[in-house]
Amino acid sequence: MPAQRLDKWIANTCGLSRKEVKDFVRDGRVCVNGETVHNAGMQIDPDSDVLCMDGKTYAAQQHIYIMLHKPLGVVSASRDRTQKTVLDLVPAQLFRKGLFPAGRLDKDTSGFVLLTDDGDFAHCILSPKNHIQKTYLASISEPLSEAALKALAVGITLRDGTKLLPAEVRVCTQDRLTVQIKICEGKYHQIRRMLAAVGCPVQTLTRTHMGALALDPALQPGDCRLLTETEKEKITQRSN
Ligand code: URA
Repeated sequence: MPAQRLDKWIANTCGLSRKEVKDFVRDGRVCVNGETVHNAGMQIDPDSDVLCMDGKTYAAQQHIYIMLHKPLGVVSASRDRTQKTVLDLVPAQLFRKGLFPAGRLDKDTSGFVLLTDDGDFAHCILSPKNHIQKTYLASISEPLSEAALKALAVGITLRDGTKLLPAEVRVCTQDRLTVQIKICEGKYHQIRRMLAAVGCPVQTLTRTHMGALALDPALQPGDCRLLTETEKEKITQRSN
């Protein structure tokens, strides 16, 4: 959010007229970052400044939740010296300090990435303890056998000893070369390693859902948009 005049921000946030705000400031009833202010026209940063009026703190900072359709070839980092990142795809009007991808996709995976500045929400949806499923669609180079499907459903151990939680796996096509996998954890290259471990290397991988929320089909690769409150809640719900 760009810097704004103090009186304008308070007027909009508290439903007061600018004249009323000026009176409040004149009477020493407004603090910014703990200091009483005397200039109603001063610039504030609504993303980081803390405002207090008559002892009541106004949460200038409202968190932001963005659904991004990550294209192939972009890294899921906040910053990279040489490569394009998911944050480079966020238009200026949605960008704000502290934005980061809540859960990473590999450079060669496409699909749903949630960008937010809300660390608590990110932690909640990523923690395996909360059982929030992330759904992937993978095309594989060998048909997935029933035995492999059952092994993944029970939870396999990778060659390096990493134990994986049970995954929900569904074969989507008759040739058994397209599979949907739901997992609640996000270990390094997890889906690729799981499928390679059962003899079915991944050819393409896309994340289609986070919790019960599907990637908006209207979003083209590289596009993003704000989530509604209802959509944000759907992320925390069980997928079908
Ligand atoms: N699993 C992977 O292997 N890659 C991803 O990008 C996400 C899950």
